[in-house]
Amino acid sequence: MIERTLILLKPDALQRSITGKIISRLEDAGLKIVGMKMVWVDKEFSREHYAEHVEKPFYKGLEALITMGPVIAMAIEGVEAIETVRKMVGATEPKSSLPGTIRGDYAHVSYGHADKHGIGIKNLIHASANTEDAKKEVSLWFEDKEMHSYDTVHDAHTTK
Ligand code: TYD
Repeated sequence: MIERTLILLKPDALQRSITGKIISRLEDAGLKIVGMKMVWVDKEFSREHYAEHVEKPFYKGLEALITMGPVIAMAIEGVEAIETVRKMVGATEPKSSLPGTIRGDYAHVSYGHADKHGIGIKNLIHASANTEDAKKEVSLWFEDKEMHSYDTVHDAHTTK
């Protein structure tokens, strides 16, 4: 099934100038960018995007991190893209994310360390967790007119 999922390259990815490397990994896997823009998230929008986390102890650090600079938001399309992208992204805690995943290859910090310093965990990327979140998040971040439909070689290779 062709699915759409929301990716955010978080401010730490932009500040480290590794967005190109991360986007390449998604493209190399045959996933298609169908929406893309740069946004500087404010506190209000952070609370909308992270509504399920607002009451959690780590939210303050998470909000500080997601609002500390611009993000690149992408809507990505592909065969069962939600699960595939989550697999490529890796575990939430960089210390636990496996080598070969985006978080595992480009970050290493633990929850313990981040908590000790009262900071949000810099794990570079957000990807929708499941079908329900993907639907909600793609429509929160993108208007219909910002989404694009076009063919890639993968469209042919995944059907013929
Ligand atoms: P979550 O949605 O659980 O993880 P993921 O981004 O892998 O879907 O959490 C959202 C973000 O909140 C996560 O990317 C990093 C931050 N976070 C913390 O800083 N501390 C924590 O203990 C957790 C669970 C998350």
